[in-house]
Amino acid sequence: MPPFGATGAVAEQLCAGALAVLRNNRRATHNPRTGMMARYTCPSPGLYPFQWFWDSCFHAVALAHLEPEVAREELELLLAARAPDGFIPHVVFWNRRTLFRHGLYWCWLQSRGLGVPRHSALIQPPVLALAVERYAEIAGDWELVRRALPDLDAYHNWLARVRDPDRDGLITIIAPWESGMDHKPSYDRALGLAYPAHPRDLAITPRLLDMANRVRGYHPRWLFARPDARGWRRFLVDDVLVNATYVASLRALARMHDAVECKASAGGGQWRTRAVRVEHAIRSRLRGPDAFFDDRDSRTGRLLPVRTVGGLTALLIEGLTDAEAAPLLAALGDPRAFGSTFVVPSVAMDEPSFQAAEMRYGASPLIWRGPVWININWLLVQALRRRGLHAEAKRIAASTIELVRRSGFREHYNPHTGEGYGARSFGWSTLVVDMLDGG
Ligand code: GLC
Repeated sequence: MPPFGATGAVAEQLCAGALAVLRNNRRATHNPRTGMMARYTCPSPGLYPFQWFWDSCFHAVALAHLEPEVAREELELLLAARAPDGFIPHVVFWNRRTLFRHGLYWCWLQSRGLGVPRHSALIQPPVLALAVERYAEIAGDWELVRRALPDLDAYHNWLARVRDPDRDGLITIIAPWESGMDHKPSYDRALGLAYPAHPRDLAITPRLLDMANRVRGYHPRWLFARPDARGWRRFLVDDVLVNATYVASLRALARMHDAVECKASAGGGQWRTRAVRVEHAIRSRLRGPDAFFDDRDSRTGRLLPVRTVGGLTALLIEGLTDAEAAPLLAALGDPRAFGSTFVVPSVAMDEPSFQAAEMRYGASPLIWRGPVWININWLLVQALRRRGLHAEAKRIAASTIELVRRSGFREHYNPHTGEGYGARSFGWSTLVVDMLDGG
């Protein structure tokens, strides 16, 4: 392997490329709160033409370096999509004409009501507070933090109130899309499929689940009802990545409250207390006998022991002891597990479900079953830096730089060859600009 790294010309080239992607994917709409036009970035114009929750958070981090004004608008628009009860949807269909033009049936399946949907009824990994904090650090704009805190508080209260139905501290997801890792193989069994699942089942079963959730009206009472919990087409999973990003966001929220509030106010105390509770729940309930972190089927209480990169995101947990982190770091460097030529594969290479190359069933892409995703690399770089593991962070940052340099801003990449797959001009791969200093 050539020595990785981005200095001078390479860094400039990557920043110029990132800016071109973000501008190409730029859309505008009325911000319903301010009545003013606001710019946002769709993940990829052809495949993902709306505003997606965690994609927007990542776009804002990259834009904080390149065009901070636009980053602020994108974050404020996402916050403006908050419902009065605190919920923020995973996709907002600002441009409804696109829905008509493409007749995107999944938009309808994943939302409620009979009319043309305005937004989905699902969530995505709660990385918003993390993104707001990182934006403020890069752009030096703590005014936005001050304005965003009431929304962020309401959102995190909603998550705890509605998405932790058994009050164990962990957020439960109701469909694979909610983790943002659509066909992650740890879900095969939770979907009632064999492991590894047949591609046909992977393409069809999650859509049937969407249909069942739509029939339930996406209402918590029906989604989480205990007597019915094992009922027809139900998916209730305590996901490691969702909960690790949740707890990292609670920590970020606590820090932001401390940073902008006067000493007399409550500050970040209550959020830190909640973070400690959630951390304890992840460490005690999602840790397998092999000391790796696994998703858990909340209907049966059983772990779903498939080693995916989701498990590695437990490194985001600040309260994780060095002894608990050690097996994750070992797996990260292990050439049989996650230590591929280009890191970090979304599934350990020794899992039977691992596929390095792009997968499809007919027209349906089947994703998150092996290839590398840049947003996950970014999350891991954040986690490793926070733990003071700069050499490990540097290795991931350098590999990310090399992937984008070789193959451009693609949706995902082959962990052996670096070949790019899926959507082109893909928004969050511009996160590479936040990794140029090498970790
Ligand atoms: C895919 C990804 C999801 C992402 C979306 C838009 O569905 O799995 O995480 O948010 O595309 O980019």
